[in-house]
Amino acid sequence: MSENVPEAAVAEYKRGFACVDGEFVPAATASVSIFDHSFLYGDGVFETIICRGGRLFALRPHLDRLWASCQYLQITPPYDQEQITAFITELAKRNELSDGYVRVVISRGEGYPVSDPRKALKPKLVISMQGAPAVTRPPGVGVKLAIASTRRTPPICLEPRVKSNNYLNHIVAKLEAIAAGADDAIMLDLEGNVAELPVANIFARHGDTLATPPSNGILAGITRETVLRLVAEGAAGPGLRVVQRVMTAYDLFTAAEVFIVGTGSGVAFVESIDGRRIGDGTMGPATERLMDAYTELLGRDGAEPDLQLTTKEA
Ligand SMILES: Cc1ncc(COP(=O)(O)O)c(C=O)c1O
Repeated sequence: MSENVPEAAVAEYKRGFACVDGEFVPAATASVSIFDHSFLYGDGVFETIICRGGRLFALRPHLDRLWASCQYLQITPPYDQEQITAFITELAKRNELSDGYVRVVISRGEGYPVSDPRKALKPKLVISMQGAPAVTRPPGVGVKLAIASTRRTPPICLEPRVKSNNYLNHIVAKLEAIAAGADDAIMLDLEGNVAELPVANIFARHGDTLATPPSNGILAGITRETVLRLVAEGAAGPGLRVVQRVMTAYDLFTAAEVFIVGTGSGVAFVESIDGRRIGDGTMGPATERLMDAYTELLGRDGAEPDLQLTTKEA
């Protein structure tokens, strides 16, 4: 599995505190009602934010996306963004966390156990932290992907820009990938075009062009947006340009390099897809430069990007 989560990290995320509706409680025993509509129906939304050197990366875009997800689902956030920021800051302080991940969940809340959303009247906020890197992979080892038969949810079923607690098709796709001996899945859209991974976006390079699928039909991630900006600034190498366009498996199989991007994965190179080696099977130069530039950006003071999450198609 690509999420080679060390035992220590599992112990780590249960350590310390979580924040439930503004109360700081031990993470190991923090709980939500069995009648919570997110537990019963996946009726909730979430964000995962990376924290490096005590600094939360792109907190504002994450909270804006959380707000948009809530708005789409007609869930009223129980606290405002300033309050949530204060809770996160306090939680990081209590957990003495400087490197790790913060997860913010808003559920429709506790209600009568029927799916009628009107029966859940009080949305719930849960913030937790994970103090260790989400994914560890030895240097030089890339991600092995498999193309799953399970498709990305199309906008006519559920808008993919909503980061909801309902990721069952992503989980089934991941199970398919694991069964195929891969680390993770590539999910196609209903037309058979490349969409994204269960929790990451994908790029491929041919010559001096990087391509990534368009932002409609996927969750166009904050890391993807950051990478688009880094490429535009020349961080992937001089002369490299990036386009957002419809891509098929052919575009991945024939690429000189393929990499994935996401809050959990960072920038990671893809070694193979469906057992076919990508490029020469090692990390390509654009991936390496972008990985370094992204790592540098995370550690830089005042690097909070002003990202516009409604991207223009190239
Ligand atoms: C479906 C999906 N795509 C892409 C991403 C990557 O988004 P971000 O870079 O904002 O973490 C995520 C993150 O969890 C996701 O859930």
